[in-house]
Formats: sequence, structure tokens, C-alpha cells
Amino acid sequence: MEARIAVLPGDGIGPEVMAEAVKVLERVAEVYGHTFVFQEGLIGGVAIERTGRPLPDEVLATCKASDAVLLAAVGDPKYDDPTLKVRPEQGLLALRKGLGVFANLRPVKLYQELLHASTLKPEVIAGVDLVVVRELTGGIYFGQRGRKRVNGTEAAYDTMLYTVPEVERVVRLAFELARQRRKKVTSVDKANVLESSRLWRETAERVASEYPDVEFESMYVDIAAMRLVRYPSVFDVVVTGNMFGDILTDEAAMIAGSIGMLPSAALGEGKPGLYEPIHGSAPKYAGLDVANPIATILSAAMLLRYSLGLEEEATAVETAVGTVLKQGYRTRDIAEEGTQVVGTREMGDLIADRI
Ligand code: IPM
Ligand code: MG
Repeated sequence: MEARIAVLPGDGIGPEVMAEAVKVLERVAEVYGHTFVFQEGLIGGVAIERTGRPLPDEVLATCKASDAVLLAAVGDPKYDDPTLKVRPEQGLLALRKGLGVFANLRPVKLYQELLHASTLKPEVIAGVDLVVVRELTGGIYFGQRGRKRVNGTEAAYDTMLYTVPEVERVVRLAFELARQRRKKVTSVDKANVLESSRLWRETAERVASEYPDVEFESMYVDIAAMRLVRYPSVFDVVVTGNMFGDILTDEAAMIAGSIGMLPSAALGEGKPGLYEPIHGSAPKYAGLDVANPIATILSAAMLLRYSLGLEEEATAVETAVGTVLKQGYRTRDIAEEGTQVVGTREMGDLIADRI
């Protein structure tokens, strides 16, 4: 097949991990006889530097005209000053919104070989296989925000707003996904305090009644945070709002040993999907050839599966990652005694070679 893939390396370690994911995709194309046309675009800090904007219009247009978008990471300490009006992260949020990718699938799968790389006890994390479906284009990330004077002092506010259709579509997607898995959905909210969460819960319960074959529960986010590190293997599909999903997936990444391992897929309805590792741009490791490219490579595998329908190729990439780990190769973030530490590029080579 022929496919157009927009490639957005972004900031920090982004270009390095992206190069390895592209290497792996090129290898897939060669082995399976596909043609992938890569179109590179600017996003984040580097886009601000070169164009003054975190997501130039023509980059968004390129992404919309592609079959799928692969993104590495955005963010640069240069933009940490809270008084700045333009920041790298705005590019990412505008891209998610612009593509309409409302459901962010963040799977947490434990590679047997990394059982000891996690700071959690092996017996706690054994058998973990869950996916968080994070709502990605609504909620507090996109609600009204601002500054104002309250009682004569400066104040700031952010708004968490969800409409019923926004909740319905993401919860429905979670149920469809659960049907292909272990048939259990946990909806996470803070309905004991927040009105938007009460609407979320009511709506999730209503959608759940359409899926009597799928086990359903609602859980408060604080309890979910606790259970994720205490009984993580009981979760199958977790569906939640934008900010809770952001926080819970960083936590869940620690089950897998490193945030450098976790991929994600953001899907809309019939639109190009957006694939990105859940980690950030890790500026302090940029240019050192130490970053773990696996999360981006596994994101490329999700791209093959969900946007191009290439299940066999996706599995081949995931299997290659497993093989390399089994053979004892590790980037620094997942290294243990007795394993062989390799750099970003070599990890990419090893994985590509095994496809
Ligand atoms: C993520 C990141 C982003 C988010 C940041 C970089 C805006 O943390 O993808 O999880 O909060 O969504
Ligand atoms: Mg995050």
C-alpha cells in the first residue's frame, strides 16, 4: 500500500527518537512491500523559533491531508516563564483539536523482561495489560481560563466543561475496545465533588447499559490512582477525562518500568490518527543518544494498526521490540545489571534489524 505519514519531531529528544521510528517504518515498508511517504513538519519550540508560531497553519494542513501523523515530543525550558503568551505545548493542543482526535488510547503492557525495571514489586505488576482511554479534546484543557481580580488580589481560573456528546463518544469507544479485550470498563471521575464529573458518570452509566456484555464500574480518581499501583492487573479499559487521564497515564507508565516505553494513539472519527509517545521532550537528554526510542517505535506500530490497517506489520514491530529486550539490550532508563546498555540509534537499529 501507499501511505502519507506526517512526521513531527518537535523538541528535545524528539528528533532523535523520531529518527528511529522512521527507520523502523522504512524497514517495514521494505519487508512488506509498502510505500510510505514521509512529510516532516515543525511543531513546538522549534516551530516558534523558526516561524513565531507553535503550529504553523501549513503544518496542520499537511497533517490533515495525511493518512496518519507521528509526533515525538514538544517542550523546551526556554519557555518555562509563566508570563509568556506563546508556548510549545499550545502546538500540541492545537494539533489534537485541529485533527479532532478525541480519544487517546494509552496502553500499558508489561514486558516480562522489564518486570524488575519497575520500582513496583514484580508480584504487584505481574499480568498487567490495561489501556487508558483519555478524552483528549475537551475538559479543563480547553475550557475558558483567565486571570482576574478577586477581593483585591490577583486570581486565576480554569474551567472543566464536558458536553454529553463529548462524554458519550469517548465512553462508547472505550466499550467497543473492551469488547475486543477482557470486557471490562472502569470510568474514572470525581463525581463526589465536581458537577462535570456527575454528568460524566450519568452519561457513562447510560452508555454502559447499551453494553450488557461488558462489566462496568465507576471509580473516583483518587481511588483509581491508589489502585493503579496496588492492584494494577484488575484494570482492563479505563476511560476518563483529559486531565485525570494525563495524570493517571504518567503514573501507569511506572508499572512498565519507564515512561520511555509507552506509546499512544489518538483517534477521531474517520480522521487521520495522531500517534505519539506519552513522554515529553526530556531536554536534558537531548543530543546525547541516550533517549529510549521504544515508545515512539511502539506508537508507529499503533499507527500501522489503527490508521493503515496493517495488523501483521504492527505485530511484527511489537514482536521485534520484545525480541530485542529478550536478548538483553536496554537503553539507560531501563538498564539493570547483566543487560547491555545501548544508545538511541543502536536500539533503533536492533529493532529494525529484527523485522
Ligand atoms: C501528554 C503531555 C501533554 C498533555 C503536555 C505536553 C501538554 O503531558 O501528552 O501527556 O498534558 O497532554
Ligand atoms: Mg502527560
